[in-house]
Amino acid sequence: MAKALILGGATGLLGQALTANLHNNGWQTETLGRCDGDLLDMDFLKARLDAAKADVVFNTVAWTQVDDAEDHPDDAMLVNRTLPDALARSLKQIGAGHLVQFSTDFVFSGPHDAPWTEEDAPNPTSVYGITKLAGEQAVQDVLPERSAIIRSAWLFGPGRKNFVTTILAACKRRDTVTVVHDQFGCPTYTYDLAAWSRKLAEKRKTGIWHAVNGGRATWCDLAAEAIALTSGPCRLEPITSDMWPQKAKRPINSVLATAKLAHFLGTPPRPWPQALRDYLFSHSEELPGK
Ligand SMILES: NC(=O)c1ccc[n+]([C@@H]2O[C@H](COP(=O)([O-])OP(=O)(O)OC[C@H]3O[C@@H](n4cnc5c(N)ncnc54)[C@H](OP(=O)(O)O)[C@@H]3O)[C@@H](O)[C@H]2O)c1
Repeated sequence: MAKALILGGATGLLGQALTANLHNNGWQTETLGRCDGDLLDMDFLKARLDAAKADVVFNTVAWTQVDDAEDHPDDAMLVNRTLPDALARSLKQIGAGHLVQFSTDFVFSGPHDAPWTEEDAPNPTSVYGITKLAGEQAVQDVLPERSAIIRSAWLFGPGRKNFVTTILAACKRRDTVTVVHDQFGCPTYTYDLAAWSRKLAEKRKTGIWHAVNGGRATWCDLAAEAIALTSGPCRLEPITSDMWPQKAKRPINSVLATAKLAHFLGTPPRPWPQALRDYLFSHSEELPGK
């Protein structure tokens, strides 16, 4: 039985989905998070990796508050670069174990006419994107032969607040919600991302992988679909990014190409609206107002 150590597996949005998927598919799973100790203490981290003897280490831990990162670049760098770098160095020293590091579409910035492929040069504009790219590069520099970088985007799923639950909660409180309609990306279900990540890990795939659901959307499209599927009367007002100033600059187009993943899976990732339906109908007890 393969063993996985999942950093962030007990509390993170993706971490929880990944832990469940691995467990349900016959893996032995162990999680590691803030409640177990200081992950940024390198001696503690190395000791836990030594003891776990995991075949695959999945790192879902990240500083994911995109706007807060602008005010705390050093802290974001510690979590998003120093931690994956330490993981890669420890596994190299141990001489065993494959590392799966998760990353983001925010390593790109638009405009760009086509979906971004794994070969396209990243050019992040936010502190979050810069620190996540630095984490990718550290892992690839230290452990290229035993690591994979999985870039995903716009995650929704059970277990933790996400954009979809935020919109549905706003709809319970207000008649109208305003949502940005000029940024394009790929909404992605954590359960689908977890399944693809497990399959890539089972084959010990290396290199960079773009892993998102099919199709593209604006935040407004995603909100509209979620509202239509759940909550009834709530008006949506599309606005431009200029009308919703945020600290961190977001890419106008961060749509990721999935041809490489589709070739590996033997089928394209399913479209995001289908995945969203699955999420909303399978986890209705968790949704705001229920
Ligand atoms: N969410 C998205 O839309 C999105 C999009 C693209 C890529 N990604 C990437 O996907 C991965 C997973 O994201 P996610 O949305 O699942 O993240 P998340 O829900 O915010 O979870 C982040 C995890 O990191 C842990 N963490 C953060 N700082 C920590 C620290 N200093 N020490 C220990 N643990 C710490 C959190 O622990 P606590 O629960 O204790 O805080 C939590 O378990 C990340 O690499 C992220 O960059 C996410």
